[in-house]
Amino acid sequence: MAIRLGDIAPDFTQESTEGTINFHEWAGASWVILFSHPKDYTPVCTTELGTVARLKDEFDRRNVKCMGLSVDPIEDHHGWASDIEETQGTALNFPLLADADRTVSDLYDMIHPNANDTLTVRSVFIIDSNRKVRLTLTYPASTGRNFDELLRVIDSLQLTDSHKLATPANWQHGDDCIIVPSVTNEEAQELFPAGFTEIKPYLRTTPQPSA
Ligand code: BEZ
Repeated sequence: MAIRLGDIAPDFTQESTEGTINFHEWAGASWVILFSHPKDYTPVCTTELGTVARLKDEFDRRNVKCMGLSVDPIEDHHGWASDIEETQGTALNFPLLADADRTVSDLYDMIHPNANDTLTVRSVFIIDSNRKVRLTLTYPASTGRNFDELLRVIDSLQLTDSHKLATPANWQHGDDCIIVPSVTNEEAQELFPAGFTEIKPYLRTTPQPSA
């Protein structure tokens, strides 16, 4: 069955480049971004893994652990990891699951048979520190993902978890936010001391709170 927003991310135990991992135990109190790759030794995936490794500080600042997955065996992962280090200027600094038996790919519905019946598509799951799935995304094999966009979504999710706010189209950290409709103007005056702008009764903006 498809994994939906708000579901508890299914637990699993699988081999990885950092040894055997029990997912929930490994995640601990962190958020997680779990993302699949169609195949080892492929060009787009190589650039994606290098990009995520280079963004480690950004993920750490947001309390997010990264985990990649490919359906090839662990020996292939180790060889590919050397190529990633050589070509991307950074070594892998997060586990890459070796899902040759498809335990995780099947659990997370990462193989879409009408696209390809053996390779995983480019799935992404953002999972919060309560193990709840907060974003799902599916890209085709030929399109590398935008990991800056995923950081942006994490910023939005973490901000809106702690404030009665939503974020508008193309929002970036530091931009004005939207006050959720359930908040009255009287409440908004208390909640958002920086003030707010009422463009329409249902469209009110306020500067992003600092924490
Ligand atoms: C790649 O990662 O480059 C790739 C993988 C499968 C199909 C097309 C491209």
